[in-house]
Amino acid sequence: MGEKGREIAKLDHKWLLNELNKAYAFEWVVHYYASLASNIVSGLRTPVYAEIFKKAAEGEFGHASRIAKRIAELGGEPVETLSEIEKSAGFEKVSFPRERTDIKGFIKVFLKMEQHAIALYNDLANKTHGKDLVTHELAEDLLAEEVAEEEEYENMLKE
Ligand SMILES: [Fe+2]
Repeated sequence: MGEKGREIAKLDHKWLLNELNKAYAFEWVVHYYASLASNIVSGLRTPVYAEIFKKAAEGEFGHASRIAKRIAELGGEPVETLSEIEKSAGFEKVSFPRERTDIKGFIKVFLKMEQHAIALYNDLANKTHGKDLVTHELAEDLLAEEVAEEEEYENMLKE
């Protein structure tokens, strides 16, 4: 980030980079599990849900990339190793349904992840408000997407 860019960011730099890295790591975790789900989900509706999870994986990968870009702008470094990613994400142990045809079981896992993401971006949006407008806008943007995705998963559970 350039001189003026640094000057207008009024937040504890270390704190902000740490929060962004948590989000970056979490997006990778969701990306990984959505990608895995698209490959292992089974049963009659496999084509539909494999595609839904694949799209979700792509979306979360996009989120991770946007956060990485912001981390770089702020002069930071995204967490590098997979073990650090899992640790930084700070998400509970993920377990998919043993029965691979249990679509709702898969969806429930992703719904929980969306809720975790919503809390994360809501917090980041609040704390950057009026202090770091660029990160604030990114957090708001991602928050809106995660909120929409939560609703989509909720609707799938009602089907
Ligand atoms: Fe996301």
